[in-house]
Amino acid sequence: MADKDGIILPKDYGIGIKPLQQSFYLKGMDNVDWGMKNRLSKIFNPKTGKSLMLAFDHGYIMGPTQGLERLDLSIPDLIEDADCLMATRGALRTCINPAQDKAIALRCSAGSSVLREDMSREVIGVDIEDAIRMNASCLAIQTFMGAEGECKAIENLVKTIDMGNRYSIPVLGVVAVGKEMERTAKYFLLATRMLAEFGASIVKTYYCEDFEKITSACPVPIVIAGGKKVPEKEALEMAYRAINEGAAGVDMGRNVFQSENPKAMIKAIKAVVHENNTPEQAYKLFEELKEEYK
Ligand code: R5P
Repeated sequence: MADKDGIILPKDYGIGIKPLQQSFYLKGMDNVDWGMKNRLSKIFNPKTGKSLMLAFDHGYIMGPTQGLERLDLSIPDLIEDADCLMATRGALRTCINPAQDKAIALRCSAGSSVLREDMSREVIGVDIEDAIRMNASCLAIQTFMGAEGECKAIENLVKTIDMGNRYSIPVLGVVAVGKEMERTAKYFLLATRMLAEFGASIVKTYYCEDFEKITSACPVPIVIAGGKKVPEKEALEMAYRAINEGAAGVDMGRNVFQSENPKAMIKAIKAVVHENNTPEQAYKLFEELKEEYK
């Protein structure tokens, strides 16, 4: 290494050539640190600017649910088509092989269950040191605007953003819709914008009418949650509309793992997200693949 002899002298200094102007491909992220950009690039494919996140963090609030009875059996087959895995540290450590190269959206809020009427009272459920040990690409915190736990949820979010900023780990702010919260464009406009202004680097919300207004008014990338299981064609239509109305990705769970053929479904969603397939093309693909993966 420290050879004195045989050194090849530099000769091309590119004199007169302007330095490379770099602007980052994700909305609102030009002024964040290199490490954060690098993590975001694992989540959002730099070629398409989009992300297909596979969510299987449902157990943290509802225990086993259909399709996630055995994470070790249902998830591994789906990983190759996802860009990012959204899960709890317990699910990842026990059921997911660490020798895979997908981004990790680590579920970091906890504190309530489906047994409660009001699920808005959460705490920060993961230390930043453990998130780093898990090699998290982003930290996911749920928020509940208008609910009893609103203030605590905002506190959880801003504290996690501050911790994440120390180590250049982005935070994914999740807009929750509890029983008492409206699923209107007015609500999602307010909640998504608030989360971005608190410093979340990614915001997850639900698709709704006037979705273009929501993606336009939110200064950071938005991904949509899938929500309850609907027929495959409907889920593909929702993903298509969301992407074409400004979403930077979809974070789907039940519409994948509760599909009659999860592997075919994730490939069809991928074709919408990354190849801009129409819902008709993607559904046709789903039908074809369904036969293949019987
Ligand atoms: C919310 O943050 C949940 O924990 C899920 O990650 C999210 O709702 C996405 O899953 P699904 O597509 O089943 O709604």
